[in-house]
Amino acid sequence: MRKRVFSGARPTGRQHLGNYLGALQNYVKLQDEYDCIYCIVDIHALTTVEDVSNIQNNIYEMTLDWLAAGIDPKRSITFVQSHVPEVMELHTLLSMVTPLSWLLRVPTFKEKAKLQPHNVNYGLVGYPVLMTADIVLYKAEAIPVGEDQLPHLELAREIVRRFNSLFGPTFPEPEAKLTSFPMVLGLDGKQKMSKSLDNHIEIALSPEETVKRVRTAVTDPARQYRTDPGNPGICNIHFLHGYFNQTEQQRYAMMCRKAEVGCVEHKNVLADEINKALAPFHERRAALATNPQYVKDVLADGAQRAQVVARETLVEVKKKMGLL
Ligand code: AMP
Ligand code: TRP
Repeated sequence: MRKRVFSGARPTGRQHLGNYLGALQNYVKLQDEYDCIYCIVDIHALTTVEDVSNIQNNIYEMTLDWLAAGIDPKRSITFVQSHVPEVMELHTLLSMVTPLSWLLRVPTFKEKAKLQPHNVNYGLVGYPVLMTADIVLYKAEAIPVGEDQLPHLELAREIVRRFNSLFGPTFPEPEAKLTSFPMVLGLDGKQKMSKSLDNHIEIALSPEETVKRVRTAVTDPARQYRTDPGNPGICNIHFLHGYFNQTEQQRYAMMCRKAEVGCVEHKNVLADEINKALAPFHERRAALATNPQYVKDVLADGAQRAQVVARETLVEVKKKMGLL
């Protein structure tokens, strides 16, 4: 039997280059070697989202991106977390073997508590327990994620070890699978690319919109005139260029150091590279968008297939925990 891959992502709507290069490309690639399950984690979203009116549309836009990027719903189960409610039952059961002190130590919990001091809800503390439930419900072994998820996965491994030692071997220890770009920087060149920081480039942007967006990127602030030599080592266009074409990245770095290319010109070159790389994606996305019912059917079918596995695991867990 092939090993199982699981990954989840919050319904943030249209995906950005960080999601794409840090996770989505890996989801697609891993389909050749593993049995894959990909999940849009709407319950996790509720730990931070205060305006819930966009969730359904975000799920739709995100599924379009996933399918257009190459997730094949025939091979890979693709579904929405809340459509398989067994995960919430498992979450409660796992919460009984997870010391509160482990959860309070998680860096993302501390960050989020700071960001939303008015809403440090119970679900926010339990976020990694729900994430562990996602993974172990399907006994997944390989987890494609970006670098920001590593602390969560470490905790998932600890919960698994604890469960297995208390109730006997049940779950494999999940391992992270990173891409070559596990932390894509945003247009500010300082922080990770993220929608909430508004430093992102959506992969579904039209070629013209991509050019405009790339133009807003921060480059070497010391380079004021076209004739000033630049420092690619602190230029975000330089970093982003490397995600798409490393040979050209090096060539442009040399030209930048000698003031042979200006920042605007370099930005246009980068935007072209992005548009070239994403052209097949855009074509598939436009075709899929003509059939919203197909997207709904994919998710309904995915939930049904996921639930078969989920129910089996839950019975096993309940027996081990003395509930059956
Ligand atoms: P999110 O949209 O935060 O739920 O993230 C979905 C997936 O994309 C997760 O595996 C993240 O680790 C990954 N990801 C998000 N932002 C970035 C980024 N800037 N660089 C690399 N990976 C990212
Ligand atoms: N925490 C992940 C994120 O913010 C999303 C997620 C939920 C996940 N459950 C998961 C990722 C299980 C991998 C495996 O991106």
